[in-house]
Amino acid sequence: MTSYKELGLVNTKALFEKAVKGGYAIPAYNFNNMEQMQAIIQACVETRSPVILQVSSGARKYANQNLLKNMAKGAVEYAHELGYDIPIVLHLDHGDTFELCKDCIETGFSSVMIDGSHFSFEENIALTKKVCEFAHSQKDYVTVEGELGVLAGVEDDVSSEHSHYTQPAEVIEFVERTKVDSLAISIGTSHGRAKFKPSQCTRDANGVLIPPPLRFDILEEVEKKLPGFPIVLHGSSSVPIEYVKIIEQYGGKLTDSVGIPEEQLRKAAKSAVCKINIDSDGRLAMTAMIRKVFGDKPDEFDPRKYLGPARDELKKLYAHKNKEVLGSAGQA
Ligand code: G3H
Ligand code: 13P
Ligand code: ZN
Repeated sequence: MTSYKELGLVNTKALFEKAVKGGYAIPAYNFNNMEQMQAIIQACVETRSPVILQVSSGARKYANQNLLKNMAKGAVEYAHELGYDIPIVLHLDHGDTFELCKDCIETGFSSVMIDGSHFSFEENIALTKKVCEFAHSQKDYVTVEGELGVLAGVEDDVSSEHSHYTQPAEVIEFVERTKVDSLAISIGTSHGRAKFKPSQCTRDANGVLIPPPLRFDILEEVEKKLPGFPIVLHGSSSVPIEYVKIIEQYGGKLTDSVGIPEEQLRKAAKSAVCKINIDSDGRLAMTAMIRKVFGDKPDEFDPRKYLGPARDELKKLYAHKNKEVLGSAGQA
């Protein structure tokens, strides 16, 4: 049993309170390996931003839970070594069972998501409540994120054809009965690099897909029902066209890529949305740089020579997000 405080981590409670009041969002970046972790910490220390390091159950299987936990501990020490102690949360992304959440809590996570959004309302409440009771009764309070409404796209092993927007009428009962600390809602974002079908979009003069706007009316309704309550947006990558172009220029094929425009995320970050999840943009940045190195230097075979540029690009991307999109820069 390891408490997150032993690792130098914090839960999301105070961070979210400050973010909701301050009109910005905390970045939640997924990581699976050392280079991603280095880039996240470098960018967040440089921009003085708090950060949520997210681990999916797939990441846990890929990288090993013990290594990830110790990387989070290393992240705290690395930030200190870089000269500034930013608040760091270790968060389970899309936990799907009580057992997985419990296991993460017992091995040092400071925050977990229990995603019961694919279940019925009552089943979602029962599962989320069970996780909250366990997480909140720990010696060091672990925060819990729940979800109402379903995002289109792939979430780990679960995939949905269509999104089901969050119903504002349900949020008060869900929060009161579960005692959840934050709530992920569905207002039109989705996971992955192709967030909408071309038939749902328009095209600009260059043929680039323009997505339909997010349902800010639903967000506003939710905010009215739960004033000041921390709201989370998943599926919030912007899918930068520059990365898609580099990947395709060097042999990749990413047909119909489209993300959430930055202005819309900026607007969301100023509301009660205090956590914004970004994974796909990082994948695109790394893939673009790795493909470029291999395309320009076919004889390269030292991993540091392609993972290094990928890491540098990732750091640039995250610093940009913190400064220009989420508004978390300077808030640590
Ligand atoms: O929401 C899903 C995240 O992008 C994590 O993806 O399950 O492939 O690690 P993953
Ligand atoms: P993206 O696929 O838009 O990066 O979303 C990531 C996410 O929501 C992780 O939980
Ligand atoms: Zn997600």
